[in-house]
Formats: sequence, C-alpha cells, structure tokens
Amino acid sequence: MPSAEKMGQEIRYDYTNMLEDAVGEHGVDVDVLDEARSRLTQVFATLAAQRAEGTLGFMDLPFDDVTVEEVLKTAADLEGRFENMVILGIGGSALGATAIARSLSHPLHNMLDSDTRGGRPRIFILDNIDPDMVFAVADYINIDKTLFNVVTKSGGTVETMAQLAIFQERLTAALGADASDNVVATTTTGKGDLWAMAQDFGWRTLSIPENVGGRFSVLSSVGLFPAAMLGFDVQGLLGGAALMDRTCRSKDFEQSPSLAYAMLQYCLFRSGAPISILMPYANALYDVADWYRQLWAESLGKKYNFAGEVVHTGPTPVKALGTTDQHSQVQLYVEGPYDKSITFIEVAEFKTTAAIPVALAEYPSTASVAGRSLNELIAAEKKGTEVALTEAGCPNGTLIMPAINELTLGQLFYFFEMATAFSGALYGVNAFDQPGVEAGKIAAYALLGVEKYAERKREIEKISAKNRKII
Ligand code: PA5
Repeated sequence: MPSAEKMGQEIRYDYTNMLEDAVGEHGVDVDVLDEARSRLTQVFATLAAQRAEGTLGFMDLPFDDVTVEEVLKTAADLEGRFENMVILGIGGSALGATAIARSLSHPLHNMLDSDTRGGRPRIFILDNIDPDMVFAVADYINIDKTLFNVVTKSGGTVETMAQLAIFQERLTAALGADASDNVVATTTTGKGDLWAMAQDFGWRTLSIPENVGGRFSVLSSVGLFPAAMLGFDVQGLLGGAALMDRTCRSKDFEQSPSLAYAMLQYCLFRSGAPISILMPYANALYDVADWYRQLWAESLGKKYNFAGEVVHTGPTPVKALGTTDQHSQVQLYVEGPYDKSITFIEVAEFKTTAAIPVALAEYPSTASVAGRSLNELIAAEKKGTEVALTEAGCPNGTLIMPAINELTLGQLFYFFEMATAFSGALYGVNAFDQPGVEAGKIAAYALLGVEKYAERKREIEKISAKNRKII
C-alpha cells in the first residue's frame, strides 16, 4: 500500500473519452481493445525477456539508493558555491533535466536574486549548438561562479563535446588548475572520451548505468543531480516513480494507467490516428511534453520490427499547451482530420490561487470572470476544450495530477517510460535503440571532413551538386 504521505498524490488517468462509447466511430472500439488485450501475455513476456537481457535498466532506478547517495553527496559538496549551473548535453542528456527544472522551479527562477532562489544556482541547459545561444550563455555567466555539468552517456556526442571545448577553454583561462572544481561529468563509468577527460582533468564524476538509455535516464544521475543542485527532493521523485511502478506490474488494463495509455494509443494508431498530442494545462509541464515527444518518437519510430521485417511504423508525438494552444492548434484538433488523440494534463491544485478582481466587472467580456480566479478559468477552459473535442468525435483523455511536486512528477515520468516500453512490445519494435539517428550523424561527420567518412562525403557532394532547386 502507498504510504499515507503518498495517498491523495496519485496521478489518475481518465480515458472515458478515448472510447467509442463517448466519441463515436473515431474512438477506440471495444473489439479492437479486446484484441490488444489478448496480446498482453505476449507484451509482458517481451518485457520480461528485455529485462532479463538487461535492456530495461530504467525500471531499477526508482530503487537505486546508491545513485541517490552519490548524487546527494556531490550536490552537498558543491552547495552554495555557484551562482550558475550550465548543463552541457543534448537529447536524452538534457530534456529530462529541463523538464524537472521547469516543472519544479519558480517560473522566473533565473531572474530571481540569490536569496530568493535559496542560494540555488541559476540554470542553463543548452541542448543545442546554436552559436548565438551558446555564446549568449557563455558571455552572460560569471565563469568562475559557474558549475558545468557535462552529460553524455556515450561520452562522445559531438554537440556536447563542442559545447565542452568552448567552456573548458574559458574555464581554464579564468581558473587554471582550479577549474576542475567547476565541472561534474555525468557519463558511463570507465568508457568514452568524457570519462577519460574527467580522469585527466580531475573532474567529479557521476555514473549513468549502462542499461539505461538516454531518453530513459531522467531518474538516474542525469536528472537527479541537477534536481539536487536546485534543492528538490530526489527521493520524492523516485518515491513517485516507485508508486507508479507498483501499478505497472498489473496485467489488468483497468489497474494500470500506463498500460491503459499504451494500449489505447496503440488501438488508435491502428485505426488511423497516429498523432499523439500531449497538452498540459500548466506552463510548468510544457517541457515534460517536450521530453515525452523525444521518448515517444525516438523509441517507437522504427523501420524494422522484432522479426526484421520492414514496417516503417510509429506514432507522431506533438506537444501543445493549454490554454495557449486553444488559440493556435485547437481549431485543427476539433475540426481537422481524425488522425489524432489528445491527452490533457490537468493540475488539480496550483501553488498559487490567483484571484481575478471585480474591478472591470461592468464590461461584458470580464463579467464572467470577475471575482473568480485564474485557477477556475483554466479548469473551465480545459473542460470546455474536452467537451468540444468529445462532441466533435475526437478521442481525448486526461492525466489528473493532484499538484506539481516531486512525487507526482516522478509518477508522470515513470508512467510515460513504462507506456513506451509497453508500446514497443505492442508495435513489435525495439523501443530502446535509435538506428535512424546514426545516418544524419555520419553525414555530418563526413561533411566536417572526418577521414573515415571520406567516401560518404564524396557521395553527398555528388548528390548535392545536381538537381538543386533553390529560389
Ligand atoms: O535517447 C537517446 O539515446 C538520445 O537522445 C541520446 O540521449 C542523445 O543522442 C545524447 O546521447 P549521449 O548521452 O550519448 O550524449
């Protein structure tokens, strides 16, 4: 049983409007659902086999006390010493930390003064190599008061290494040999260039387990260390994930929100609705939607199935934000093609209750909200969109978060991670590799003149030289 503290903090999944009963012919048909249900034994057998071969390391993270200890010790050593923390990394090595920081921090965290931040550092997570952005951060920070957390599981992703080279040069110029105190390297122990550099330069290191893939690493040291540096309760995050883990063990569709989500999404994919929109009604959760976008896309978008057949399968995840995207995307969702489902995230209790004054009540457009609150308004807007979609026959579901805190966020991450693992088994694809990303990387190396890819460079140049159509 969940502890008393956790009671009342459980995320729930309302899938009423995903079903044909509620939305009509474009909803999930009971027969299709039954067919998916009949494959559950196979789905759990696939997961058991993947676990046995060491692919599902993310499932161990909620119980990994050693990592917690390592993370908390490193964060305690560094606490109070830095004004800024810059995370160098990309993809799965950046998105989880961004989602945690945005979900749990004050919305204007970086603009607050140090006391109001509780002495915690400002945070900048690069997740790209845009020259303007990288140099804007480099020029803004006071380098000797900045902690760099370099994160790469492989230890050699070129974007991350390029970021590191830029900041390492500046750090050494400013601090000389003392610069080693300003770097924490999060990587696979004993492997890759980052590990070697950490040994050479005397950087602190945190370990990423070999069996945890980048996009599944948010609850490893990759996400937990930034969380600890920002003063968040890392045990709470893991406790939330452990709570969700319990429900995920059930093979009963009605008992497992994560399994239900995976199955319903899969049924809709099969009946012609491959677009999966995640739409939190909370700015704090927008980067969770971004994190989900990577998790769902990179895990399930695959050319080959387990049998090696060409299938070119995979749903298309989209992120949206309520109410903002009601004024941008919802027209399409309500009246456009029936190729999508929407999952709302609804927050029952925000940290702030924001009253709307009665001052402008005599104007018709403000009369309906005068004396109410933004909290009531955002809830009504979400419900209104849900009703409109349902009446238009568009499948939609809602994840209900009692509040945004470590316990609920840990559940949310784990909910989607397990849904992805279940989905991989349903689609019959390996959700834990990303061969499609390699082709672009090799082409980039070739164009940069890496000797090993000289032949590839010639091919690309030949293709590029002909058939150009540029206006
Ligand atoms: O999920 C993944 O595996 C990827 O998105 C990686 O996280 C990304 O490519 C960065 O890789 P690395 O952590 O090795 O630098």
